[in-house]
Formats: sequence, structure tokens, C-alpha cells
Amino acid sequence: IVRGFSSSAVRNVVIKNVTIIGGGQMGAGIAQVAASTGHSVTLVDTSDDILKKSIKLIEGSLKRVAKKKFSDKPEAGEEFIKKIVQKVSTSTDAESAVQGSDLVVEAIVENLKIKQDLFSRLDKLAPSHTIFASNTSSLSICDIASSTNRQDRFGGLHFFNPVAMMKLVEVIGTPATSQDTLDSLLDFSKVLGKTPVSCKDTSGFIVNRLLVPCMMEAIRLYERGVCTCCFYSSFKHPSSFSPIPLTLLIFCFSNLSGDASKEDIDIGMKLGAGYPMGPFELADYVGLDIVKAVIEAFKTKDPKNPLFDSSDLLNKLVAEGKLGIKTGEGFYKHK
Ligand code: NAI
Repeated sequence: IVRGFSSSAVRNVVIKNVTIIGGGQMGAGIAQVAASTGHSVTLVDTSDDILKKSIKLIEGSLKRVAKKKFSDKPEAGEEFIKKIVQKVSTSTDAESAVQGSDLVVEAIVENLKIKQDLFSRLDKLAPSHTIFASNTSSLSICDIASSTNRQDRFGGLHFFNPVAMMKLVEVIGTPATSQDTLDSLLDFSKVLGKTPVSCKDTSGFIVNRLLVPCMMEAIRLYERGVCTCCFYSSFKHPSSFSPIPLTLLIFCFSNLSGDASKEDIDIGMKLGAGYPMGPFELADYVGLDIVKAVIEAFKTKDPKNPLFDSSDLLNKLVAEGKLGIKTGEGFYKHK
């Protein structure tokens, strides 16, 4: 075992060179923590313009770190940022980028076919020791890995948003993942300064399996309408129609915005359940397209589970391009 400063060393693979495919919020964050812990990072996306934005994201995040760490020495802060950013090179050519890589972490769009196509291409060019990992939130690692001939060197490495702040990494193994690969991924996560937890390849792993149904239930609570016995609900569910007094009807129509406002649901979960963010704030932060993709992936695996039902409101917002903070509007408007 070779163990050295700033590289994750494992039984057969010393992870020094990391290629990250996808320079969005997650890929940029993973690149930042990998570079901050001394790894050489190549960040890949589909265009140079996107990659410029990724580097800006990394610099912005590092500026916040530097401001705290070097509050009385701004020049040392600048140097700190420069050194880390220098460890990140960018490329639009994934095939070339993986050729010197010990680990490939994929953080592209949440779409099985696109992820499979990518890994199938990279599998032919990456060195045989290279470990492949997906940061997918909801897709099966087994399904993604099936597009390659290195299923023993394939696992899930699921980071949390914002990557620089969140301490957890879920390390996911499929029945084909070798113990050496799992150990490599666990060690790599620790070298990044994270706390890894191991999990089998099940829908949503640990955190999203619990968190996303909670977000969807909050959305349903907000969009549902007033009460299950009311006139409005009878329209939605004709089989449950029952005559109701006029006063109740007027009350019901005056409250069609939902069982509770999204603001109150957020406050409720923050002050009542100790969540750092309410479910609507979190959905806007994560991205409504991601939340939609996750719940749809769960539904595909377990169609009868009502926890995984879709939401008309969520679908409408996504269709309108209101994806949350990244587009300036989701459930809330953002500056
Ligand atoms: P994002 O939309 O911010 O970034 C995705 C990036 O991938 C974009 O820059 C896009 O141009 C690029 N891309 C798409 N196809 C590509 C290809 N074939 N080759 C190279 N680049 C490509 O998405 P985000 O939020 O960073 O999510 C990425 C992955 O991470 C998804 O699988 C998501 O489920 C997962 N994830 C997301 C979390 C979140 O809170 N947003 C948390 C944990 C995991």
C-alpha cells in the first residue's frame, strides 16, 4: 500500500488523478474538494463556456473559505485560491481526459441512457486500474455499470450539496463491485475530509430514500386543496363526492391554495423537526428537475408505492423551466 500526503491510497489503486465529468453544481463542488486535498483534477463538460462557469463556481466557493481562513491576510487568501484552482484543468474531451485517470466521477444529467453511453465510451479508453463512480441520486449503479466491462471497478460515490460544506458521502456497492474498489472509494472519501457511509444499490440509497418522499409529501400537502371531504376534492376524486354545507364550501374555496402555505411548511419543518432547510427551500436548492428525476426513478423501480407518486405542481414548474435557485425561480423567486 502506498500512502502519501494528499492522495487516497488503497490496496491496488493510488488515487491521485481524478477526472470529473459534468461541471454543474455537483461536479464543480467535487472538483473543488478533490483539488483542495491535493488531487490533480480534470473537469469535463460539453463546452468551454460551461467550464468557465464551473471554475467561477469553484473560485466563488473558495473565496468564502479564504475569507474565513485568512481574514487578516487577504494576500495569503488569494494564494490559497490560486493554488487550488491550478490543480483543476478543464476539457471538453472526456475520452482523452480519462486516459491518465485513477478515478472517474460522473456528475452529468440524471438520465440512465446518457450515463450508460458515456461510461460505455470511457470504458474502452480508461486504463484498466481506473475506478468508475457515479454521483447519481436515484438511478441504479448496477444499471449504469452494466454498460461497461469493469463492473468490479464500478461503484456509487454520492456527494451532497453543497459538496464543500456537506460532510457525508454515500459509497454504494453493487453485487459485482470488488472489496478493493469499495475500500478505494471509502478511503478516497476520507482523504477528501468526508465521512463515508456504505450502502447497497437500492433506490435513493439512505438519505434520498427518506428525504425525497418527505419533499414530495410537503408538495402534495401544499397543492392538495383543503380537506378530503370537500367539494373541490370531490371534483378531483368524483367517487368520493358527498354533499357539504354552503359555509364549508365557501371556506374550502377560500383555502384552495393548500393545507398549508409553503412558507409555513418550511417553518414547520425547521422549527418543529429541526431541519436546517424546509422542504421547499431544499427542493429549490437541489433543483426541481433533479427532484422530479429522482421521484420518477423511484416510481419506475416500485410503481405501486404511493410515496413515489408524481406531483402536477412539480411537473408544471419543471415544464416552465422554473428549476429553483439555478434558474432564479422555483417554488420561490431567487435573486
Ligand atoms: P447540473 O445540471 O448542475 O450539472 C450537470 C452538468 O453536466 C451540466 O454542466 C451539463 O452541461 C453536464 N453534462 C451533461 N451531459 C454531459 C455529458 N454527456 N458530458 C459532459 N458533461 C455533461 O446537475 P447537478 O445538480 O450537478 O447533478 C449532477 C448529478 O449529480 C446528477 O446525477 C444528480 O442526480 C446528482 N446529484 C445532484 C445533487 C443536487 O443536489 N443537485 C446531489 C447529489 C447528486
